[in-house]
Amino acid sequence: TGNTTLDVGFVNTASCQSAITYIDGDAGILRYRGYPIDQLAKNSSFLEVSYLLIYGELPTPSELEAFTSRIGRHTMLHEDLKDLLAAFPRDAHPMSVLSAAVSALGTFYPNSLSITDKDQVELSTTRLLAKLPTIAAYAHKKSQGQPTLYPDNRLDLVSNFLRMTFGVPAEDYEVDPVVSKALDQLFILHADHEQNCSTSTVRLVGSGHAHLFASISAGIHALSGPLHGGANSAVLEMLDKIDGSDDDVDTFMKKVKNKEDGVKLMGFGHRVYKNYDPRAAIVKETAHEVLQKMGVNDPQLEIAMRLEEIALKDDYFVERKLYPNVDFYTGLIYKAMGFPTEMFTVLFAIGRLPGWIAQWREMMEDPATKIGRPRQLYIGEPARDFVGIDKR
Ligand code: CMC
Repeated sequence: TGNTTLDVGFVNTASCQSAITYIDGDAGILRYRGYPIDQLAKNSSFLEVSYLLIYGELPTPSELEAFTSRIGRHTMLHEDLKDLLAAFPRDAHPMSVLSAAVSALGTFYPNSLSITDKDQVELSTTRLLAKLPTIAAYAHKKSQGQPTLYPDNRLDLVSNFLRMTFGVPAEDYEVDPVVSKALDQLFILHADHEQNCSTSTVRLVGSGHAHLFASISAGIHALSGPLHGGANSAVLEMLDKIDGSDDDVDTFMKKVKNKEDGVKLMGFGHRVYKNYDPRAAIVKETAHEVLQKMGVNDPQLEIAMRLEEIALKDDYFVERKLYPNVDFYTGLIYKAMGFPTEMFTVLFAIGRLPGWIAQWREMMEDPATKIGRPRQLYIGEPARDFVGIDKR
């Protein structure tokens, strides 16, 4: 059809121009607004990085203070939203709860659905950044059958989230600074990744002029799949199946290479990185550090390292340029922190939220934006005449 070209999975097609995130997949480079990811992970904080992604520059001290206190004022959930969360079944997957709750935010703030009113977009931005950790913690509490805790806004965003997740009423919860710092760093590493599946979803939904809550809710669903954000829990499920003896690691690797039942080495491979994922390098270091500091001796870390060692030397992986991605080691850290496997992708979503928001806002402000509407190459039947039911 005309000059339509086929590009399954958008391997070569740029869908937009963006000034937010730069990736060089061959060199293993990732930068947010020009700043290298390792410098941000080492020196910055998740809120500062959120500000950077959304507004384009690192905040001054007073800008960061204003941003932090604005978010601090919006961490509570409407009591009716809590009732809605309470109505979900106890074994509901927290990613479904998260997406449903974000979708429902649109019903609680009908005045904030404008895509052109800058103040309202600002308010929705603040509400999302403030409330997503609260919603996530409540989803976890629900699955545990435990009562929920109100946010304590004297704490920073990540510590507040940890307290709401692991604390119980009437007991003081001491946030472990090692855990809080490590989780903050992991959120930074996940904060944006240019036009990945979920971000493209957020943009595509928004390109039809759907509001921010609707677009982010769709992005959360896109993230949930095991080829995308769901890979972090899939890695742990994979490690659970391997008992650690060399035999089992080898049997598993054979299955992967023979593509038996579609088995993949989860946490390996990336569409853009054909060299070590720079986020994975940082996460691997953090995994060792955090597990050691927490006094956790997890045999699954050994298995993961063994899998990586084998894969990096094996022709199958070398030829296909498959390296560990950000998800390979994150699950082990989340597990050591006490999160159940189902919550891992929720943590990815909290981290990715500022990127989604920044990308949605950039698209809405770009006069060149058009509704996203890919074409196809039709391969069906040619024109034919209708046949009545009695003749079929
Ligand atoms: N294990 C075994 N084989 C693999 C893997 C893997 N993890 N990843 C890719 N391959 C093979 C694939 O079968 C194909 O082989 P062949 O050339 O013989 O057909 C070749 O490598 C190229 O892979 P592809 O599927 O064409 O690559 P893609 O760019 O379409 O997919 C991917 C990228 C990330 C979906 C894929 O590598 C994958 O499924 N990895 C496992 C899931 C995972 O870890 N996802 C997290 C991605 S990073 C976090 C995020 O941003 O979401």
